[in-house]
Amino acid sequence: MRVQLPPCSQRGHGGSLFEDPYVFNAAHYPILDLIETHGYIFSTMSINKSVPALVEAAEKAREQSNPRFSHFRVGAAIEVESGEIYSAFNIESSSYGLSMCAERIALWKAVTAGESKFREIAIVSDAFDFCPPCGACRQVLYELAGDIDVCMRNRNGIVKKKKLSSLLPEAFTVKTLHDVQEDPFGRRD
Ligand code: THU
Repeated sequence: MRVQLPPCSQRGHGGSLFEDPYVFNAAHYPILDLIETHGYIFSTMSINKSVPALVEAAEKAREQSNPRFSHFRVGAAIEVESGEIYSAFNIESSSYGLSMCAERIALWKAVTAGESKFREIAIVSDAFDFCPPCGACRQVLYELAGDIDVCMRNRNGIVKKKKLSSLLPEAFTVKTLHDVQEDPFGRRD
């Protein structure tokens, strides 16, 4: 399916993606497969029916976000094996470095609820382009959730999915940590 997107000048800023009349009506086309770009997999509804709900949960979280310093709202939602969804938004501190990304908060909500098997994370933000997880989130997600699908939706309603391993190739993990010939501190596994 190919869909004609409105020109940039007609796209609106702020507000909900689902309500903004100047933004391509994503509610009608929650998942599109209209871009062919090397390395990107574009999901279709037939591949994973749970994606719209996951993206919608991330979108709802983004709308609740109130980042006082960056004013850049991010929403994330992570789906676990049972189909349960945990969502979160970014939270900022006046000590800027202590702010926390939506992705890690969503993950930690799931982990503290006792979850250990993860499927996919969806990320949406105020940016028109896709919002990929930051480096710290990639590392923590990879260690705690494994090689999950990362589903990003831009403000045109276009969804793209990537494997986390493709965003964090040759990751440092606990496997590397234990791959020592001789522990200088004499510790054992
Ligand atoms: N942020 C996220 O929540 N997720 C990302 O993937 C990138 C950045 C937040 C952190 C901070 O509150 C704001 O966006 C600006 O960096």
